[in-house]
Amino acid sequence: MPMPNAINFDDLRRIAKRRLPRIAFDFIDGGVEDESGLARNVEAFRKIRLKPRFLSADVTTRDLSTTLFGKTYALPVGIAPTGLAGLFRHGADMMLAEAARDANVPFVMSGASTGSIEDLGRIAREHGWYQLYLARDRKISEDMIRRAADAGLSTLVLTIDVPINSKRERNLRNGFVRPYRVTWKSRFEALLHPEWMLEYMTHGMPHQSNWVRYARAGASVDDVLDFQSSQMPTPALMSDLEMCRRVFPGKVVVKGVMDPSDAIRAVEGGADGIIVSNHGGRQLDRAPAPIEVLPAIVAAVGSRTTVMYDSGIRRGADVVTALCLGAKYVFQGRMTLFGVTAGGKDGAQKALDILRDEIDRVMIHIGAPNLKEVSTDYIANV
Ligand SMILES: Cc1cc2nc3c(=O)[nH]c(=O)nc-3n(C[C@H](O)[C@H](O)[C@H](O)COP(=O)(O)O)c2cc1C
Repeated sequence: MPMPNAINFDDLRRIAKRRLPRIAFDFIDGGVEDESGLARNVEAFRKIRLKPRFLSADVTTRDLSTTLFGKTYALPVGIAPTGLAGLFRHGADMMLAEAARDANVPFVMSGASTGSIEDLGRIAREHGWYQLYLARDRKISEDMIRRAADAGLSTLVLTIDVPINSKRERNLRNGFVRPYRVTWKSRFEALLHPEWMLEYMTHGMPHQSNWVRYARAGASVDDVLDFQSSQMPTPALMSDLEMCRRVFPGKVVVKGVMDPSDAIRAVEGGADGIIVSNHGGRQLDRAPAPIEVLPAIVAAVGSRTTVMYDSGIRRGADVVTALCLGAKYVFQGRMTLFGVTAGGKDGAQKALDILRDEIDRVMIHIGAPNLKEVSTDYIANV
């Protein structure tokens, strides 16, 4: 199927799968250990029922815009940070940034991104956020935060749910963990994906662009990856949130909150917002689905901070459900990552178009002309 014909998440996933060698596809698609958390994220949404309602409101026109931190976005769903995007398509980070800018939604650049903070500032300053993976040497982290501020980015996202590398069994079997030990089988399999292979042969493994300046002068791609691996992951402490708050002049958001007590701590540490997320089922396999814990977190801190959501978004109905359960904004990772892999900037745009269309249809069915007043009233089984 050509990318323009894609009509849903599964189509984009399938097209991306065809383009990528298995080793790369598995990195995006996979979860951790038994991948039960990955499945739970999606199943939990499918268990929640929205109320069809037709006589209560005029939905002849709908307003999908959503205001977040004083800025009005065209959609209630943005692009979550995803590392290594440039490996799936050369230049993918900036394609995602451009797609977000053109669709007027936020794009969060990953702390393991293959594009640079400075380029993001040039291309999509208004829509660009930066996600920080802490370095063991906190001076590096401070410098990254300053760079994000100097680039004019409005929001810093501190990810707290990667205290160690998780056990991603697909990557282990494929030899796709540092130091890479890619098997001959994987190398041969890659030859079955000539379009990707040609791009890889032309451009090679992409740099961890934001880390280059901290490795030794003249460091190769591999040296930078080694340096980065020596610096992270490292557990986040309250003092790190305080550092973000002190150094970054814009909004500070904590990503990876799954428990009300962590949410309260984040608020007390000065966060302007939190993202309820289990990293798309890529960290603790036995964690609950974030949509299951969202209501308790909203109850604990919803009146004091901006609660956002990600993980398991596959349909527009999932976005509306998270908003009904109290999220002020929603992010997704794999849908636009499969989109950009499948068709570059147009593919990322396609993912956002699919979500826009599905959200709009759900709004008509539940009798919600805008997203400001959606609430648990719109949910049939809570
Ligand atoms: C391939 C991939 C790479 C990711 N890289 C990062 C990252 O660098 N930083 C981060 O905070 N989250 C990262 N995430 C998690 C996403 O930001 C987000 O939480 C997750 O994708 C949401 O789940 P979904 O894919 O079901 O939408 C990554 C997710 C994927 C799939």
